[in-house]
Amino acid sequence: MVSPLVVPRHVAIVMDGNGRWASKRFLPRIAGHRQGLEALRRVVFACTARGIGVLTVFAFSSENWKRPPEEVSGLMNLLAFALAKEVPVLHKEGVRLRIVGAKQHLSERVRDSLAQAENSTAANSRLLLNVCFNYGGRWDVVQAAQTLTKGGQEITEESLSRNLSTAHCADPDLLIRTGGEMRLSNFLLWQAAYSELFFSDVLWPDFDDTALDAALDAYASRERRFGMTSEQLPAASDSVS
Ligand code: FPP
Repeated sequence: MVSPLVVPRHVAIVMDGNGRWASKRFLPRIAGHRQGLEALRRVVFACTARGIGVLTVFAFSSENWKRPPEEVSGLMNLLAFALAKEVPVLHKEGVRLRIVGAKQHLSERVRDSLAQAENSTAANSRLLLNVCFNYGGRWDVVQAAQTLTKGGQEITEESLSRNLSTAHCADPDLLIRTGGEMRLSNFLLWQAAYSELFFSDVLWPDFDDTALDAALDAYASRERRFGMTSEQLPAASDSVS
């Protein structure tokens, strides 16, 4: 059981392993992504139940355009389907949805439904769900720097952070990657500077409450020093917020 005192405020997830989940069952890769959507729904509810305030998931990277065209269009269709089907449920659960990433390469139909989904859930505050779609960490840093340069503003750590696509929330406390690989794959490169990393062998479609709790338990046992020494840290009970 995870101690409620050390629950991360913001959890970010690289949802990896959908393709392997499907291949193991001799199914097309899109079947793995569909099952991945089920896992995402499960994890959203698990996060709300555990008092996690922000969940950020990597649904489609800037590099995923290189995948076979049928998989790319399958993922676009899945996004449209998910928005139509899941947004009313998310809204009922008090979830606020934000789509994070470059919108310009998405079709007008997808862009409109994204805007509608964001607007209809904008007043919710139980959980903020950031879905990173057409997102890349390098893109994010570059777009923030370009915004500052265009506006004639100085580039500092603070100004750059304020212009990232996730500026509406704090940086992730815990970053989970499922599927057994141990890399960031261009996800939240700036924002994850001090995130605790957790790598799970579970393929994303199989990720459930037990797998999430394993990550939360590991997080609860970590000492976050942010460059300081153990002795400099406030007593554990003071540092919890
Ligand atoms: C990585 O697994 C997963 C993705 C590129 C897509 C993630 C999408 C979902 C979980 C479904 C939810 C989607 C939306 C649109 C909200 P992989 O395909 O790289 O798996 P592999 O490493 O086993 O091949």
